[in-house]
Order: sequence, then C-alpha cells, then structure tokens
Amino acid sequence: MNVLIVGSGGREHAIATCVAKSEKVDKIYCAPGNAGIAEIAECVDIKVMEFDRIVKFAKNHDIDLTIVGPDDPLVGGLVDALEEAGLRAFGPRKNAAIIEGSKAFSKDLMKKYNIPTASYEVFTDAAKALEYLDTAKMPIVLKADGLALGKGVLICNTLEEARNGVKEIMLDKKFGTAGNTMVIEEFMTGREVSVLTFCDGKTVKVMSSAQDHKRAGDGDTGLNTGGMGTFSPSPFYTKKIEEYCKKNIFQPTVDAMAAEGREFKGVIFFGLMLTEDGPKVLEYNARFGDPEAQVVLVRMKNDIIDVMEACIDGKLGKIKLEFEDNAAVCVVLASEGYPLQYTKGHVINGLERFEHEDGYYCFHAGTRKSSKGIVTNGGRVLGVTAVGPDLRQARANAYEAASWIDFENKYCRKDIGKAIDEA
Ligand code: AMP
Ligand code: GLY
Repeated sequence: MNVLIVGSGGREHAIATCVAKSEKVDKIYCAPGNAGIAEIAECVDIKVMEFDRIVKFAKNHDIDLTIVGPDDPLVGGLVDALEEAGLRAFGPRKNAAIIEGSKAFSKDLMKKYNIPTASYEVFTDAAKALEYLDTAKMPIVLKADGLALGKGVLICNTLEEARNGVKEIMLDKKFGTAGNTMVIEEFMTGREVSVLTFCDGKTVKVMSSAQDHKRAGDGDTGLNTGGMGTFSPSPFYTKKIEEYCKKNIFQPTVDAMAAEGREFKGVIFFGLMLTEDGPKVLEYNARFGDPEAQVVLVRMKNDIIDVMEACIDGKLGKIKLEFEDNAAVCVVLASEGYPLQYTKGHVINGLERFEHEDGYYCFHAGTRKSSKGIVTNGGRVLGVTAVGPDLRQARANAYEAASWIDFENKYCRKDIGKAIDEA
C-alpha cells in the first residue's frame, strides 16, 4: 500500500520509521518532511495546511492511508477533507480534535463527565477575568483557549504576574486569537506523565508511558519549549495508577466524546499530573506527542499500520498492543537560543554513524538538505534516541549517541531522564 505522512518533525520521522517496518507498505510519501525523513520516504513540497493540495496529491498517487501528525491540520479538519474525497486517514475529525483545539471545551467536557482535572473558570471578557483574580489563590495557571505552539500556558506566582498575564493573553493577544477565550485554573503539583493511547471511537488501548522535559534549561529552568527530551516508560506511572487512569480518565474520555457525538478515532495524548489526590488531567492532545513518539514508537512491537487501520475501522478491540520490555531515552539537540532566537544553516556532522548502530535512532526535526550537506533548519534540530535494557542504560546510550553529532550552535539539556534516579 501507499502511505502519506503529513508533518515535518521528529514525531513524523518516528512515525515514518515505524511505517517503513510494515510489510504491507510499498511506498511512503511525506508532506513536507525533512532531510531525515527523505531517507525513507519521498518528500513532497506541500505544507500541512494546504488541504486542497494534500487531497489532490493523495488522489493522484493512489494513497491508501494518510497519517496526519501535527495538531494544526487535525484541528483545522484535514481528516474531514480527506474523507470527503473518499480517502482513508488516520487521526480525529475536526469535531473530535477540538479536545486539543479548545481548552475551554476540554475542561467543560471533563467537568460534565467527572474526569479528574484542576478546578477552573472560563473567561471571554478580560475585565471579568481580572476581577476573578482578586479572590483567587496564587500560584495560578492561565491558559489561552486555542492552539499556541504549546506555549499558551502561564504559571503565575503573584497577583501582579497574573494580572499582567491576563492582559498579555486577552488584550495584547500574545498568542493571537487563541487568547480570545481563556481558562484560569488551579495550580497543581506532582510528577507529570504523558500517556499516549490509540482510540477507535469506543475502545481505547494504552501505549507505554513517557515523560517529557518542557523547559529549555537543566533543572527545569528557562522558557517552555516544544519538549527537550523524553524517556519511556515512566517509573512513577505504576500498574495501579494505570488501572485507575483507565477506569477514571481514559475510557470515560473516549465515552464522553462518543456521547457528545464527537467520536474520537486516532491518538489521544493524556498529559497527566500525579497529584496527592490522585492522577489528574493537565491537558489533552489529539495526536502523538513530540518528542514522546520518539521514545514510545521505537518500543512498540505491533505493525503500526494494523493498529491504525483498526482505529479507523472500529476494530481496535481485536488488537493486542505490545511493547518491548526495555526503555528508551530521547535527547533533543537544539540550536542554542531556542525557543527565542537562534541561527540556522549549520552543517551537521556525524549522522552516518547511526546507520550502523542497532538501537540508536537520529530523528530529524529541523533539518534541510543543502549543497553543503544536511544543515540545521530550526530550533529543535534532532531527537537522538537510544534504547537499553533499562532507563539508566538507555540514558547512557542516548547521551553517548548525542556526542556523535556535531554542529556549530548545538545545545542540549544534560539532565534528560535524571528523574529516574529518584524512582
Ligand atoms: P499544557 O500545555 O496545558 O500541558 O501546559 C504546559 C505545562 O504547564 C504542563 O506540562 C505543566 O507543566 C504546566 N501546567 C499546566 N497546567 C497546570 C496546572 N493546572 N498546574 C500546574 N502546572 C500546570
Ligand atoms: N511534548 C509535548 C507535546 O507534544 O505536546
């Protein structure tokens, strides 16, 4: 079969690597892809929001399955556009992707169906939000309603910070129209865990857990980023916690979406916080996480095409999801200065080493082919991922592999996976 993957990040490279292992697949295309994906797929110069061009391409190239990676095209309705043209696509339709596209929607859903989450209020009027803050407990969390590249969340320690935050989000529109509506929610403490699940509208199957490192600097300092590294599984997410989450969070969420007439088919990513009062939902995403996919998918034993087709056809109940009994760590190599300002176009050395080493992966995120070779082309450049028999060995392997790569303004956190020492 012919498969088209939509997206251009490390997540899409990890998905493409899985798809390439499937015996069912003859040819992989990726729109727009990157220099790493180009090694296993034919990259086509179509952007993820160019729906008409994607649909036309899929029709003209006999694409049997289109896999949509990023949030923007899912929330914008790319799966609907493909289905309307009679094509098969993996990912939620627009009316289900809203679970990520609107924080006000997802909070109201959790409230209505008693799914544990932080208490909150929704505001569309800045004056009312400011008034509410006067009586609220600090710290407090402000969230722009819509998509904001994972950056629309402000944690405010003082009333003054919170008042400024409301102004930035709702009046100065720091995150654009994403801030027309805002959620203000209770600040929670605890360990975070990312749990990715496959859903077919009614059944939910849970993948191995992961933990991200969102801040740019060591010791969780600095600005929020898309994610600087991950490990899988999370030793803090025990069997008992998983059982609780299946019963009280995962299945109720899928059932709630179905009850609302918004059947969810695809991946729901549950961002959880393990609080003293039990696990609570921080956020939902309607897709694989990035860089969570890099550590979870390399450990999956199933043929990813079988699983995705079962999701589309409502037959996920027949699939036994299986993961290797090992661990994986991903260290993101970024351009120094990310997520603010950084230079691009630097030659990347050392990539060839990965072709000869089993259990080591170099997923490309911001890279591009040039006359000089493969060069940096973004903030997050590569996701160097390694497996090992346990988390400690996987971490040692990932950092060793990170040292194989060299480019001019290479930056990475030195403490990815440090939390496992506390487990
Ligand atoms: P989100 O995009 O909603 O996952 O938020 C980004 C990050 O902000 C999360 O990964 C948490 O670290 C933090 N965060 C979000 N909501 C809360 C909350 N209610 N309490 C504490 N931290 C939060
Ligand atoms: N790594 C977090 C995300 O993909 O949203």
